[in-house]
Amino acid sequence: MTGYKEFYRRSIDDREGFWREQAKSVYWHKPFTKVLDYSRPPFAKWFVGGETNLCYNAIDRHLAERSDQKALVYISTEMNEEKSFSYRELHAEVQRVAAMMQSLGVTKGDRVIIYMPMIPEACFAILACARIGAIHSVVFGGFAAVSLASRIDDARPKLMITADGGSRMGKVVLYKTLVDDSIKLAKHPPEKVLIYRRGLDPNLPMVPPRDVDWKQLAAEHPGASIGCAWLESNEPSYILYTSGTTGHPKGVQRDVGGYAVALASSMEHIYCGRGGETMFTTSDIGWVVGHSYIIYGPLIAGMTTIMYEGVPIRPDAGVWWKIVQDYKVTVMFSAPTAIRVLKKQDPLYLRKYDLSSLRHLFLAGEPLDEPTHVWISEALGKPVIDHYWQTESGWPILSAVPGVEKTNIKYGSPSFAVYGYDLRLLREADATETAVHEKAVVAIVPPLPPGCMSTVWGDDERFVKTYFSTFSKRQVYSTFDWGIRDDDGYYFILGRTDDVINVAGHRLGTREIEEAVNMHPNIAECAVVGVADPLKGQMPLAFAVAKDTSRLREASGRGLLEKEVMETVDRQLGPIGRPKAVHFVNVLPKTRSGKTLRRSIQALAEGRDPGDLTTIEDPAALQQIRDALKENPA
Ligand code: PRX
Repeated sequence: MTGYKEFYRRSIDDREGFWREQAKSVYWHKPFTKVLDYSRPPFAKWFVGGETNLCYNAIDRHLAERSDQKALVYISTEMNEEKSFSYRELHAEVQRVAAMMQSLGVTKGDRVIIYMPMIPEACFAILACARIGAIHSVVFGGFAAVSLASRIDDARPKLMITADGGSRMGKVVLYKTLVDDSIKLAKHPPEKVLIYRRGLDPNLPMVPPRDVDWKQLAAEHPGASIGCAWLESNEPSYILYTSGTTGHPKGVQRDVGGYAVALASSMEHIYCGRGGETMFTTSDIGWVVGHSYIIYGPLIAGMTTIMYEGVPIRPDAGVWWKIVQDYKVTVMFSAPTAIRVLKKQDPLYLRKYDLSSLRHLFLAGEPLDEPTHVWISEALGKPVIDHYWQTESGWPILSAVPGVEKTNIKYGSPSFAVYGYDLRLLREADATETAVHEKAVVAIVPPLPPGCMSTVWGDDERFVKTYFSTFSKRQVYSTFDWGIRDDDGYYFILGRTDDVINVAGHRLGTREIEEAVNMHPNIAECAVVGVADPLKGQMPLAFAVAKDTSRLREASGRGLLEKEVMETVDRQLGPIGRPKAVHFVNVLPKTRSGKTLRRSIQALAEGRDPGDLTTIEDPAALQQIRDALKENPA
């Protein structure tokens, strides 16, 4: 067997040969003529001329062998429901939804925004888009109307698909009303909204003729037969918005063929998931992990995938492990936050169920601290693989690759660069490579491998400017993460270089939260920073300057304004962006050129040294931050 080092080397030195081979795991309706076209750096086109379809690879291709095997299992501990769909049934459901979408005027290249809870219909809708070549853009249900409106205006969807509501910890979240609000705010609203009613909103408002009831329309398309649209490998499959340094999320655009190949190969080499087995990924379809490893990856591999609506501790902290036992899960994928939540529960829950089927637990989305890594590894007695990637990459960048070689796991490290990624640690100042044990920017020398984002939706220039312009001397992709490598070649991720924070595995831009805070009529300006949190990894903390300070003299007035600001964030961005606390100050620490010193504020909030302050305009401003923190420790 080839060792991983050799496998990796070949992926870089003989890029085309390597990926030509990997591409064999995907069905091509028409073979590609060129593995890679890199004539317009940094835009990489993979498998040029080849025609395929993600839905075909996820469903149709398996019908001969697996039509009665479960493809999708939906488990909701919120609604007390469990339903499963065989590959044959999934095939039928997806075709029916494809027919419904076509009847609403959706054709190839049209955008469809999916704003849905974790229900099977969301999976059908995603796959139906892929089937007919429509471009889906799934928006996480935790985002509020204003965030949704900005995504609508960027994607300009023909259709939006939603449900009456979702449920979290027994509390109903009304999706459709949020959609209505977002459409009122949007400049480019969709022509049609398709609504799946779960019975969670008895007073569901319908706006005819725009709003269409899912079940009524479905009744008009029984037994629909809709073939797959064959797409050139580089045509867009989906847009997924993600946060960055600006207040405006970027539409990460993904292709078809490269993504299919990257996922198929990762299922084999990284996740070791085989056809007929079960994968349980505990993320949400609104995040990249849900796209790649709830929907497409496991289905492309011919596995059964589990879609779970609920939290890890309801009805009790054994619920996930019971699923592993009952469905003989071999591959599980979760986030460190969830494990930290479970760590606080009785460890007996982990021993109550038979976990012998489980081969690996993969964790990603935020730094995995060593104590949590140790705890879960020992509790499970299975390899727990920390792996690192991004919405932009679509699949792992750093990981152990046990399907090629079972390398030792080091606690707190996502191991090595994944094949296909020419990964470097570059010094921020001059883009030179670091020695071991030296903190630097995690960068990737392009071309980016298959599966990674093709561009920013509708804005090639922003793609180049955002990701490839960190270093003036070298056009390399910046991950915007700091990293370090040890003597044995293991990497460690040390947090973001920009203003992105990670709250319970949810990626948020501090600028987005600031814009939401600023929407309160009594806020003049604010700074939001991420501060370390033992459970959620990070939490946003806001420092705000009020316009009218008369209310702030009394603690009760401050408390009231703080509450109002939090409610404003809930409404604008969604509860996931709500700051842990809002501190009021008279002035924010800024440089003489007017840049807010966020890193210094963050350092103070975390009890660290604020660093170089030579450029600060008013040192008293920093003292105010210190005082505010002393009064109300974070
Ligand atoms: O900062 C890194 C952190 O999450 C960011 C990407 O988040 P997102 O686009 O939501 O994609 C998540 C896909 C798993 C990264 O830039 N991050 C992700 N995984 C890790 C991590 N930080 C440390 N260790 C990880 N394993």
